[in-house]
Amino acid sequence: MSPAADIVVVGSANVDLVIRVARLPGAGETVTGDDLQRDFGGKGANAAVAAARLGARAALVAALGNDADGAAIREDLSAHGVDTSAVVTADGPTGVATVLVDAAGENAIAVASGANLLLEGVDVRAGLAGADGATVVVVDLEIGGDAVLAAAEHCRANGCRMVLDPGPARPLPEAVLRVATVITPNRGELEVLAGSGGAASLLATGAEAVAVTLGGEGVELHEAGAAPLRVPAFPAAAVDTTGAGDAFAAGVAVALHEGRSLADAVAFGAASGALATESHGARAALPDRRAVEALLGRHSPDRKS
Ligand code: RIB
Repeated sequence: MSPAADIVVVGSANVDLVIRVARLPGAGETVTGDDLQRDFGGKGANAAVAAARLGARAALVAALGNDADGAAIREDLSAHGVDTSAVVTADGPTGVATVLVDAAGENAIAVASGANLLLEGVDVRAGLAGADGATVVVVDLEIGGDAVLAAAEHCRANGCRMVLDPGPARPLPEAVLRVATVITPNRGELEVLAGSGGAASLLATGAEAVAVTLGGEGVELHEAGAAPLRVPAFPAAAVDTTGAGDAFAAGVAVALHEGRSLADAVAFGAASGALATESHGARAALPDRRAVEALLGRHSPDRKS
């Protein structure tokens, strides 16, 4: 069966094992924390649920394990309105992320990729070929290089816009970067992707734009041929930043699908990302459309209060 979607996310799905700690441990250090929480997560699945909550028809192309976690994630995605007809079941365990969240809401994450790395280019091509109504494809890097490249090639061949969420960061071939409508790194990811060349070197590959997420300092939008634009942060009482990047990428994708400019799409994504920090859990905290519109209404355009 083919996905019916405005936005297709090609990416990961995990079970998140979350421990809240007073502060993140350093190398060689052990810290104790609160009771273990078990949630659904994964950058791709989070972004697909976020897009659905923001009012888009969303589909996910991903690989789940042939285990109980995989079955539970599939059911949860469907319950959130995400089309899972292009989610494959692979011969391996479902991905698991261990997530530490400190008292300031910052996090550190390690992922046992499992089935996520069994998503093949052929699965991505098949999933995207069926989704011919989709205008925007969101891609993250918790999947293998062939899957990422297949998504980029589909976008290039079919004129889809591609939102590339480059986490966890690794150097990428020009064949992927040049197709991106917008790449959404944080500072650390930008350094891994571009080294000292920064956003300018990503634009030089042919990418249309780079939106560097700067937490409380907002987003710096670099567009080819234009001066960088600072999109201010929305005020947020942050308790957990884990799903913020996923909510940002999904917000940008939804706004692009609706025909908004890149600057407006980044503001929409920033509002979605800010709200996602205000409660615990990557998935549970993802905001709905009404909350994002309300925040935009209260604080645009200059975010002075
Ligand atoms: O971006 C947050 C996500 O990163 C978590 O849900 C975890 O699963 C990791 O993929």
